[in-house]
Amino acid sequence: MTAALINLNDLRLFTDGDPHAAWQVLRREAPVYWNPTEDGGFWALTRYRDVHDAYADPATFSSRQGTVLGGSFRNESDTASGRMLIASDDPRHRLLRRQVHRAFVPEVLDRVGPVVSAYLGEALDRFVGSGGGDFAEDVAPELPAGLLAVMFGLDRSDALHLLGLTRRMIGFQDPAYHAATRREVLAATQVEILDLMAELVRLRQRSPGEDLVSILLTAEVNGRRMSRAEILYNCLNVAVGGNETTPFTATAAVHAFIDHPDQFERLHADPSILPSALEEIFRWTSTNAYVQRTATRAVELGGVRIAAGDAVTLWNASANRDEAQFPAANSFDLTRSPNRHLAFGVGGHRCIGMAAAKLEISLLLQEILTRGLRFAMAGEATRLRSNFMLGHTSLPVTVRVGSG
Ligand code: HEM
Repeated sequence: MTAALINLNDLRLFTDGDPHAAWQVLRREAPVYWNPTEDGGFWALTRYRDVHDAYADPATFSSRQGTVLGGSFRNESDTASGRMLIASDDPRHRLLRRQVHRAFVPEVLDRVGPVVSAYLGEALDRFVGSGGGDFAEDVAPELPAGLLAVMFGLDRSDALHLLGLTRRMIGFQDPAYHAATRREVLAATQVEILDLMAELVRLRQRSPGEDLVSILLTAEVNGRRMSRAEILYNCLNVAVGGNETTPFTATAAVHAFIDHPDQFERLHADPSILPSALEEIFRWTSTNAYVQRTATRAVELGGVRIAAGDAVTLWNASANRDEAQFPAANSFDLTRSPNRHLAFGVGGHRCIGMAAAKLEISLLLQEILTRGLRFAMAGEATRLRSNFMLGHTSLPVTVRVGSG
């Protein structure tokens, strides 16, 4: 494979191909790579150092036009730009983040843990009882369902409904989720989620609770209350950010355990390695494959000139396998240390849900270990048709309780 033939916008690479092989070529031959597309193109940064440094320079690499390629915020007049956490720059971003962060403090996570454990426990009981099933469908969604239930004050069935909607939104490129054209699905789903959030705003205005919507209803940004649009967009941001990433990570973790039985047995034998195992799972799976930035000025990087206004993609998934940063980068090593991966980004936009994600995945690992679960493939895994999220829409497995 040569760099010139690589197209990171060709989704077949992510369903049937080997994107890690492509990134390896890019890191070696063209670390600042111009990837042409039908309607223009984008720069792809694939080395750890370049990705890290671009995150750390938001004045040059702006978030205002959104973090997803071809997403809905390329147009500055888009209403979400500058209002939604992920699509805003400082100083506005810092002010918004301070408010949204109030829903991510330890006291809230303390309430999340038992709910996630309860949902997960029931799902695993059913899963083990039937000897397995589709881990992506039958178990993984319980993790964000528990988080959402607490964060938005929903019951389990409403949390699962919201989860289904965000799933359709993120997987808008995936034929499994729709029959109409991509943009229609994206727009219609976004409207449906915003409607649901608007209903929650009405409910919490009447009777406030301890959830994110209630928190944002009392929040002040620059001495004024957050606008309705700001509340809705940031609820959308949290719902989307939290709903898809952790189940994909959970499913990919089980897949990695099946592919690397020696590592899985090591974890079973010594659960004290759980903290480093958790970090390695995030590095290995790199569920959020890239984030997009837009250059605010002309800048030279690795001998290449990036023009003002160009789209620049920061490939977390590639940076996390960069041999220059991680010895034996392509080995899944649950005791890896140090492990300064970029799965959650870095800098001002670093994932606000990181602690929640770590809580969810560690609860899953603890359940797997205490129950002594062992998995084996029972069919073909299906990968999501997306270059933004790396994940499986299906992972058929058998499960048994026991050793070795
Ligand atoms: C494995 C799980 C997760 C991964 C890999 C992940 C990844 C990321 C990354 C890479 C960013 C940085 C985006 C950027 O710099 O433009 C981010 C931001 C964000 N994440 Fe996560 N995330 C995960 C879980 C969650 C959860 C559980 C939530 C919420 C409940 C969440 C909500 C958000 C939000 C709201 C932002 C925007 C923060 C900001 O712009 O200041 N994420 N996430």
